[in-house]
Amino acid sequence: MQTTKRLNASQLKIAAEILRDGGTVAFPTETVFGLGARFDDASAVQRVFEAKGRPSDNPLIVHLAGVEDLEQVCDEVPKIALELWKLWAPGPLTLVVPKNSKVPDIVTAGLDTVAVRIPSHPVARQLIRETGVPLVAPSANRSGRPSATTFQGVLEDLDGWIDAVVCEAGCGLGLESTVVDIHHVPPRLLRHGAITEDQLRTILPDLKRVQSGHEGHVNSPGLRHKHYQPSAKVIIEDHDQDLNGMRVARIGIDPCPVHADFILHRLCASTEEYAGALYEFFRESDRHHADAILCQSLPETGLGIALMDRIRRASQ
Ligand code: TXA
Ligand code: MG
Repeated sequence: MQTTKRLNASQLKIAAEILRDGGTVAFPTETVFGLGARFDDASAVQRVFEAKGRPSDNPLIVHLAGVEDLEQVCDEVPKIALELWKLWAPGPLTLVVPKNSKVPDIVTAGLDTVAVRIPSHPVARQLIRETGVPLVAPSANRSGRPSATTFQGVLEDLDGWIDAVVCEAGCGLGLESTVVDIHHVPPRLLRHGAITEDQLRTILPDLKRVQSGHEGHVNSPGLRHKHYQPSAKVIIEDHDQDLNGMRVARIGIDPCPVHADFILHRLCASTEEYAGALYEFFRESDRHHADAILCQSLPETGLGIALMDRIRRASQ
């Protein structure tokens, strides 16, 4: 165990120094908090795996300050990467590209590709710039738990395990980035996110969806593991559930047609708000010792696809 420093946005120089020296720092991005370490230092990256309790076969995303950083991790930049990022970078779109020899094997779990993204959150971008080196940053939670969208959520899981956390708000999207493997022919959608399949198809008409079945296991190692799970049981709402005697929390956008007696009830104004609130609601429900979290099911279009994907995985 160690002392985890609490820093704010005016102390990014301190955060950057810790990172340059091979330490670990959690910071906000526009999706969820990331746990950063310099990508080119295998022992710094090892500390990230240890703090999270993350299986070593699950590769990390390298976060860049801008498109120009891509050549640090990839020698032959695919043209399509630049086309996609012209529309959606900085932002929640992660691309899987061929890696170069500067990327240690521990980052990619031995794969010959590396996942890269340019976050749009000003703290994240400034921190990468200030450090002067791209940063690996998986979500800043213990492996298997819901991602953290607040610094309190980060500390709940990782206090004493990491060197510092930047205590700023701003994970407005609340769900992790969309992940697309553009090295594969045809390109594959490995994880749904705020940049939707329909949007991507305008540039990648032959995009294939990879499910968490056998093919998914091979192509996106992260799909094989349990994800996003609070201690309470996550239940997708339907009409004939027996919740008698349970402490139930509920989240959705419409009132619940069946049950009324909740220890916590979050009614969101939109799919966007539901997505943004989901993980913190999971954590809050655990703080209130809920037995179950009832989640309203939404139509699987647009952002609803990513939202229902996370809820389904959390419920397994
Ligand atoms: O929004 C996000 O992407 C957040 C913030 C912090 O940026 N990060 C995040 O990282 O969600 P993580 O480690 O929790 O999820 C990374 C996902 C995993 O599913 C992993 O398997 C996949 O990306 N991945 C990473 N490198 C890959 C590669 N070379 N090939 C295929 N999948 C890869
Ligand atoms: Mg994660």
